[in-house]
Amino acid sequence: MSKQTDDFFKNIVSHAKEYGFVFQSSEIYDGLSAVYDYGQLGSELKNNLKTYWWKSMVQLNENIVGIDSAIFMHPTIWKASGHVDGFNDPMIDNKDSKKRYRADQLIEDKIDRYEKDGKSDKAAQLQQDLDDALNADDLARLKNIIEDHNIVCPISGTKNWTEVRQFNLMFDTQMGAMADGAEKVYLRPETAQGIFVNFLNVQKTGRMKIPFGIAQIGKAFRNEVIARQFIMRMREFEQMELQFFVRPGTEMEWYNKWKETRLKWHLALGADPAKYRYHDHAKLAHYANAAVDIEYDFPFGFKEVEGIHSRTDFDLKQHQEFSKKKMQFFDPEINQNYIPYVVETSVGLDRLFLTVFANSLVHEDLSTEEKQDSRVVLKFHPAIAPVKAAILPLTKKDGLPEKAREIMAKLKLDYNVQYDEKDAIGKRYRRQDAIGTPYCITVDHQSLEDDMVTIRHRDSMEQERVAIADLGKIIGERVSWTNLLTQLI
Ligand code: GAP
Repeated sequence: MSKQTDDFFKNIVSHAKEYGFVFQSSEIYDGLSAVYDYGQLGSELKNNLKTYWWKSMVQLNENIVGIDSAIFMHPTIWKASGHVDGFNDPMIDNKDSKKRYRADQLIEDKIDRYEKDGKSDKAAQLQQDLDDALNADDLARLKNIIEDHNIVCPISGTKNWTEVRQFNLMFDTQMGAMADGAEKVYLRPETAQGIFVNFLNVQKTGRMKIPFGIAQIGKAFRNEVIARQFIMRMREFEQMELQFFVRPGTEMEWYNKWKETRLKWHLALGADPAKYRYHDHAKLAHYANAAVDIEYDFPFGFKEVEGIHSRTDFDLKQHQEFSKKKMQFFDPEINQNYIPYVVETSVGLDRLFLTVFANSLVHEDLSTEEKQDSRVVLKFHPAIAPVKAAILPLTKKDGLPEKAREIMAKLKLDYNVQYDEKDAIGKRYRRQDAIGTPYCITVDHQSLEDDMVTIRHRDSMEQERVAIADLGKIIGERVSWTNLLTQLI
C-alpha cells in the first residue's frame, strides 16, 4: 500500500469508528480478533444494504423467494457438502515469532512485492507456481516456494518455518446438555447449504417451477487463519446468497446473465465503474464448472466482494446421497425428472459495506482566497443513507425548536430523521455531511410566518426553499428505492 492509500484506509477505519458505524468487538476487553460490531449508524447502513439486495432479488423477480434458515444444521450436511473434509486453508507457523500465516497469502504478498519492484516476469512465474501447487494440493511444494523465494516472517524476520498443514475453517460446538450424549455441530461457514436442504420444501410449498431461485441473508462463521484489513476478512460475517435452480445444460446461459446482473447491481449504487472488475477463477472449487469474482479496488488493491459460481448439481446430488431423499424436480415441459443445476451469487455484506464506505468517503477542500475550509462527506446514495434528513432549527428559541419538532413528528413516520439544535448551523451541516445525511432541513424565523423551510443538499451544498407541506413528498421522491431499482430493470 502506498502512503496515500494507507492513509485513506486508516481514515476509513477511524471515520467508521468516530461516527458510530463500526466498533471493534469487545473493545473494553482489548477486542476480539477479526470480530466487529456495527454501531448506531453502521447497523442502519447495513440494514439498508440488505433491503436493497432483498428487494432487487425477491421483490423484482417473480421466480425468486427468500428464506431464513437456522445457523445450526445437521452435522451430516457439512460432510455431504465437502466442508468437513475439504474446507481448509494451508497454514504455516514461524517457530521464532510463533505467528501463524496462510501459506498462499505469504506467497501472494511476495508476488505483490515483485510487481511493485517492477519484476513482472518473476511475479507471473511465482503466480503460476502458486496456482500449480494449490491445484495439486501440494503442501510440500508450497513450503519449497516459500523457502526458494526467501520469504521471511514479517514479525521475526526469519525463515524458521514449520511444515505447511491444512487447517479446517469451520467452528464447532456441542449441542445438548450432557457432554456424553452431546452431538458436535458446526456454525455454518456459508448460508448456501440452508438453501439446498430446503430446496424441496420451498419448491413444493411455493409451487416453484424451474428456473427459480431461493435467496437468503444471514451470518456465516469461518475460523480464518489470518484475519486482516478491518471488516474485509472476519471470523463472523454476513452473506447474501442466491441459489438459482436451472435445467441442466442451461447453466452457462444463467451464469452469464447473473454475472452481468450482479455487476450492474453494484454499479447502481453510484461507484466509478473503473473501481470494479471481473476475475475468473484459475482454480475451480470441487463443485463448480465456472466461477468468477466481482472485485473492487480497495485501498489495498483489487479484492473479491462477490462470487458467482456455476455449482452444477453437486450439492443437491450430495444431499440426495447422504440423506437418501430424492432431490429431483419433474419438468413438465420436457416430461423429465432431474436434479437441477445451480448458479449461485454470493456477496459478503461486510465487504459490500466497506466498498460503499470507501466509495463514499470524500475529503473536500472548500478553501477560498479569504479563508481555508474543508469538509468530510459520506456521499452515500440517498436510498441507503442511514439518516435521510436532519431537522435543524436555526436557533434554540423563538418557537423554532417547536416548529422543527412538528416537522420531525411527521417525517419520522416514514424516514429515519434526526433532530439537532446544538452548535452553529454550519457546524451542524458538517456533522450531517460526515454521516452522509443527504438533506438538511433548516427552520428559521421566516418559517413561522410562511410555513416554508430551506433544504440544503449534501453533495452540491445548494439550498432551496420549499413548503413544509411538501416535505414528505420531496424527501420521499429523492430517497425512494425506485431510484435504485429502476436502474436494474
Ligand atoms: N457459498 C459460496 C461462498 O461462501 P465464498 O467466496 O467463500 O463463497 C462468498 O464467500 C462471499 O462471502 C465473498 O465474496 C466475500 O464477500 C464474503 N466472505 C467470505 N469470507 C469472508 C470473511 N472471512 N469475512 C468477510 N466476508 C467474507
